Amino acid sequence: MKGYEPGTYGQRWAELYDDVYKPDDSIVELLSRHAGDPPRALELAIGSGRIAIPLAERGVEVSGIDASPEMVEKMRAKPGGEAISVTMGDFGDVAVEGEYPLIYLAFNTLFALLSQERQVECFQNVADRLERGGRFIIDCFVPDVKRYDSHNTRTAVSEIISVDEHTLEMSVYDPVDQTIDSHLVRRTESGESIVLPVAIRFAWPAELDLMARLAGLELEDRFGWYDLRPFNERSTSHMSIYRKPD
Ligand SMILES: C[S@@+](CC[C@H](N)C(=O)[O-])C[C@H]1O[C@@H](n2cnc3c(N)ncnc32)[C@H](O)[C@@H]1O
Repeated sequence: MKGYEPGTYGQRWAELYDDVYKPDDSIVELLSRHAGDPPRALELAIGSGRIAIPLAERGVEVSGIDASPEMVEKMRAKPGGEAISVTMGDFGDVAVEGEYPLIYLAFNTLFALLSQERQVECFQNVADRLERGGRFIIDCFVPDVKRYDSHNTRTAVSEIISVDEHTLEMSVYDPVDQTIDSHLVRRTESGESIVLPVAIRFAWPAELDLMARLAGLELEDRFGWYDLRPFNERSTSHMSIYRKPD
């Protein structure tokens, strides 16, 4: 999408993000179990601290990377958010010092890296920053190209909120590059329309496993979600645990 930069998502979504996306205890529970001793973790694309703050409350020393000052400002404004150290930049570079027992990347956000090459680089950079035996935990949706019509587009009503408010979704899918450019158009009560852009490059689980192998990581486990529900051919999401060998 022309003009879409690493910081664009946060710039457009920060005001709304915490109203739409809520904390999820199962994520925090699973991550805290893999944070090592003493517990430490690096969150790629830390955003407004939806996961990082409750994880830090459990005694994990969390730090993060994000490209959006607007999202990080939201985290800073929350209790506990000020104490979390954040490196500003593109998370695909994993440009931090030291090694971690746990690096995680939630909410489909690996797909915010818009080419296969950048995703492969991200896995490699993560592997370089993991301790031996350390884990890279990600969740991603399982692609469903049936959502797109014969012109590779999709137009849908996402939400009718009230008599004056609604959200429409418009997406264009590229089956060669595996990219999807979307606009969520939210009409507010005052009649104003806000465009919320999202650009992604998706990958199936098998492609992610190959990226991990190229980086020297092995798939340790895969579930349908952080609550450890089984992953199978009907799953719409997966939570995958990659491990750096001892
Ligand atoms: C969907 S939010 C997820 C935030 C948080 N991980 C959570 O689960 O609530 C995506 C985050 O990724 C950040 N982001 C997107 N692309 C990025 C990039 N290339 N480098 C760094 N941050 C990026 C955005 O600024 C935003 O904070």
